[in-house]
Amino acid sequence: MKHSKKMWLIMLLGVCVVIIQYHISSTWLVGGSNSGTGNGLSYADPAVAAAVREELLHAAIGRLRLDDTISVSIGQKLLHDLIMQLGHELLAVGACGEVSVPAAADSSLSQVPLTSYTAPRLYIITPTYRRPEQIPELTRMAQTLMHVQNLHWLVIEDAENKTQLVSELLHRTGISHDHLVAPMPEAFKKRKGPKPRGVSNRNRGLEWLRANAKDGVFYFADDDNTYDIQLFEEIRTTKHVSMWPVGLCTKFGLSSPVVVNGTFMGFYDGWVAGRKFPVDMAGFAVSVQFLLQRPNATMPYKPGFEEDGFLKSLAPFEPKEIELKAKNCTEVLVWHTQSKKNEASAALDLTKYNNTNLVILKQLIV
Ligand SMILES: *[C@@H]1O[C@H](CO)[C@@H](O)[C@H](O)[C@H]1NC(C)=O
Repeated sequence: MKHSKKMWLIMLLGVCVVIIQYHISSTWLVGGSNSGTGNGLSYADPAVAAAVREELLHAAIGRLRLDDTISVSIGQKLLHDLIMQLGHELLAVGACGEVSVPAAADSSLSQVPLTSYTAPRLYIITPTYRRPEQIPELTRMAQTLMHVQNLHWLVIEDAENKTQLVSELLHRTGISHDHLVAPMPEAFKKRKGPKPRGVSNRNRGLEWLRANAKDGVFYFADDDNTYDIQLFEEIRTTKHVSMWPVGLCTKFGLSSPVVVNGTFMGFYDGWVAGRKFPVDMAGFAVSVQFLLQRPNATMPYKPGFEEDGFLKSLAPFEPKEIELKAKNCTEVLVWHTQSKKNEASAALDLTKYNNTNLVILKQLIV
């Protein structure tokens, strides 16, 4: 890179940091403990305040990453390091002043990020595979997860190689993530009837957790569901295994624990089939520590019995120990939306459209 261009970028970063500082010390923190709106939250605990500052810096970095022209020219890593360094210096000299965060409006959604600054880390395990709906589904899901703090996304493709469009999408969102592959073993691919889809991916996710995570909570979140961001805050407090209702699921329209006076009484699911845990993949979360204490826990290659098999592999663990979320399972915060299946698109007539935009578009779709 040319020297002049480098200087220009450093100046630009300097300006960004000043803007961040301005935001931290004024706009976002208006009000202290007695703001005009009357509901400002101030953090007396310096550790919490520091965590909040750190989080604001991460948010700023996330924003900067979205600008591809900057990040491509100087590289993600350098940009990240430079901003973190400048940010830490600012914090060290106390330039950010006292930190408090305004509790905006009455909507419970707007308060979601507030609860998560010091809350346990979330690991979202998402199996995916190349198909016409893959990029649209992952786009929707990514833009949901962008609203969730302290989250690491494991996107695991059933493929030999990573799909470049998926890598680019993940990179663009600024979400902390690992993009992995875990092809279904050949023996299951050849088998007739329903295939154990997503099992190799989820087991790869578990393997990653065992190697890289010490605490926090994980959730098997498929790319074809709709998630209310409040769900992720519910999940964070999971001690062992938590469960909640899933909408648009089975012939009953939902799958949920049955609850009486705050006590688990059984399961409501349109397809029980002798399962000990007749639940949906999107309906439970598990603490990482709980998983680590069960070195043999794994998901079986058994279509229809993946959830049941995995939850049984967490033994000792009984249904009555389930932690109920979503207000004693009275709220639906996740739905099995599932896009309509699309056929692979027909080939493009290259003699007719050789020099057109369609050549590029065709590479973007399946
Ligand atoms: C769940 O129900 C129990 C018993 O009625 C109650 O004490 C508890 O507050 C409820 N929890 C929530 C989050 O509503």
